[in-house]
Amino acid sequence: MRVLIGIGGGIAAYKVCEIISSLFKAGIEVKVILTAGGEQFITPLTVATLSRHPAYTDRDFWQPIHYRPLHIELGEWADLFLISPLTANTLGKLAHGLADNLLTNTVLASTCPILLAPAMNTEMWEQVAVRRNWESLCQDSRYHAAAPAAGLLACDRVGRGRMAEPAAILPYIHSLLRTQGKLDLLGKNVLISTGGTREFFDPVRFIGNPATGKMGLALAQAAVHRGANVTLVHATLPEIAIDERIVIVPVISSEDMQREMLAHFAGADLVIMSAAVADVKPADYSAQKLPKKLLPTELKLLPVPDILTELSQLKQPHQKLIGFAAQTGDIITPALDKLHRKQLDAIVTNPVDLPDSGFGSDRNQAIIFIQHPNTPETTPPTRIDILPCAKLEMAHQILDRVG
Ligand code: CTP
Repeated sequence: MRVLIGIGGGIAAYKVCEIISSLFKAGIEVKVILTAGGEQFITPLTVATLSRHPAYTDRDFWQPIHYRPLHIELGEWADLFLISPLTANTLGKLAHGLADNLLTNTVLASTCPILLAPAMNTEMWEQVAVRRNWESLCQDSRYHAAAPAAGLLACDRVGRGRMAEPAAILPYIHSLLRTQGKLDLLGKNVLISTGGTREFFDPVRFIGNPATGKMGLALAQAAVHRGANVTLVHATLPEIAIDERIVIVPVISSEDMQREMLAHFAGADLVIMSAAVADVKPADYSAQKLPKKLLPTELKLLPVPDILTELSQLKQPHQKLIGFAAQTGDIITPALDKLHRKQLDAIVTNPVDLPDSGFGSDRNQAIIFIQHPNTPETTPPTRIDILPCAKLEMAHQILDRVG
């Protein structure tokens, strides 16, 4: 896997060092082009050291030392081209097919997907001409957008223009390398639940579980990178940068999750319940924190609604409903029971008692069982094994099969 990175003239260039370093650690080869502006913010030595390749600048572009033109060489070499930070100037050139330096010539000489991460002052970002250039590039399926976020800018202005964080750009790179930029879920509405619900019995104590929502977040990222419109109903929101196109609906309890899933269900084409819903809630709730001496020695519990079963009763023929099963020991028998009992199109069953998988881990492994429509219940579902891998990769494998 080969990623070419074009660094433009913006202070966000420093964040790209982290991206280069993370890609290298993930075994991805990285080469870097610095524009003249990019070189003002970060040195060729820095990027060469991090990438273990020479940094390419406009001086190399005009040197007759390469046996083939450098922009052709680099353009053919890359599986993916990340331009970050993308300046208003380079954005304007790309929108008009112009090429007057190594970076822009390499764009024209390459055919791989291009991920754009603009960064600029808010006034610049909001100029009609800049908006027009951006919209026009976003219409082109070759370009993928890591749009700028709002926040405090280096010009002391608070507004939109901050480059997307490496935490949002890195998964996007991994997705694009895997999909080669194909947008097979374009226009699809995907609804995902994730995280562990919390059922409070006073303002500071609850019944919960160790789910962190990483699997559902990975599914949301993979789906949005493949062009879907994604709504993520999340019970344990992490404090990390998330692709701004994912609509996040924060919830706490299973009843909140039930309400939000029902509210968003009708418009969804694909629904994935990856949340670990608490199966019970305390029968009583105290609005004030209970002092230790008043804590009950036994908790009376009530069942909570089974959201997936309820959704399955509302499901229309064009909708697909996927469940998860977090299991210990035998992960197959209970999952097949849930697939049939909850009338699902597929179930993803994953072990939560093995190292490097399940709750809180960045990696996972699973078996997917797919029940093909219009087949009798006696027809065995198709089984697909997902070997241990990163949760983002597992998300793509799930979407390959059920998206
Ligand atoms: N689920 C749900 N509502 C619940 C409980 C579970 O929608 N109240 C969903 C989960 O999000 C998951 C699937 O049902 O997609 C299976 O959840 P799991 O807890 O494994 O199964 P249960 O039906 O609760 O059965 P059991 O606890 O006996 O294993």
